[in-house]
Amino acid sequence: MENEVLLSVRDLKKHFTMGKNEILKAVDGISFDIYKGETFGLVGESGCGKSTAGRTMIGLYDRTDGEVVFNGKDVHSLSEKEKFQFHKQMQMIFQDPYASLNPRSTVKEIISEPMEVHGLFPNKKERSERIYQLLEDVGLNRDHANRYPHEFSGGQRQRIGIARALALDPDFIIADEPISALDVSVQAQVVNLLKRLQEEKGLTYLFIAHDLSMVKQISDRIGVMYLGHIVELTASNQLYNKPLHPYTQALLSAILYRIRMWRISGSVSSCRENCQVQWIRRAAVSSEPDASTLWTSVPRRNLSGRRSTKTIMLPVIYMMNM
Ligand SMILES: Nc1ncnc2c1ncn2[C@@H]1O[C@H](COP(=O)(O)OP(=O)(O)OP(=O)(O)O)[C@@H](O)[C@H]1O
Ligand SMILES: [Mg+2]
Repeated sequence: MENEVLLSVRDLKKHFTMGKNEILKAVDGISFDIYKGETFGLVGESGCGKSTAGRTMIGLYDRTDGEVVFNGKDVHSLSEKEKFQFHKQMQMIFQDPYASLNPRSTVKEIISEPMEVHGLFPNKKERSERIYQLLEDVGLNRDHANRYPHEFSGGQRQRIGIARALALDPDFIIADEPISALDVSVQAQVVNLLKRLQEEKGLTYLFIAHDLSMVKQISDRIGVMYLGHIVELTASNQLYNKPLHPYTQALLSAILYRIRMWRISGSVSSCRENCQVQWIRRAAVSSEPDASTLWTSVPRRNLSGRRSTKTIMLPVIYMMNM
């Protein structure tokens, strides 16, 4: 890995205005660098702000504060001409492989679109060849080109999303949970595909996931996100040997015990304002045989800004003997 910074995130914030006085601090001051050629994993449970961070980094969302510097330029203050160039260099693989593919377009049209916009391969025959090559790169074949997204399995659809992201030959790809919608057997295939493409094309990845075991396989460094903050950032092997933050420890024990994550409920999102993890403890749950639950306690500040003295208990992870 070269130590050249490709992307630098500084105190990035993305807040959503929910009502008159309600602000949801989805991303609340995250900072990290991503080096050329590395894979930076961003993990954390559902709702902690991973996708919002990725979407803000690629400029799909305006930032509330902070900056994202890519190749020396602030992503949110690019001129139209610079933006055009930037979109060639940074691409995103979206979390939901079905929703992100136009159901009325054939695979060929889907992959061809960014090339047309950027004036790549103006010769139709050459463009078709490039599309077939991309399909083969991601483990599909040219016969798939004239089919529609609904004619594919989830794993194949994700491959189409990857082919589309590769169409402009980018340097940097934000892969937002590229494997979480897939069957376990297909997950490894897609991870291997991403690794192979990285080696062949010298790609840099931001790999977003809530499953630490998969992130470990692919990432050089990992940032652990919790309620809009990065609570730990370290080399992936160190994270496993010496987790510092209690939340990371909870996530790791989730792997050791093969725990199933619970999706965070609405009530958790609503107390993200100024939330800090204070401690995490494990408590036995009597209603479930052979199961226990990890709980985290956060000081609650309600959305109108008043601090509640009540400390609420939030179930974070549900463990089962599998
Ligand atoms: N466009 C939006 N408008 C308002 N709130 C949003 C928007 N996008 C996300 N949020 C909220 O921001 C918080 C973080 O959402 P985000 O999608 O970034 O989480 P995530 O970590 O990617 O979760 P998951 O693992 O489920 O994909 C959530 O509470 C979500 O409801
Ligand atoms: Mg997400």
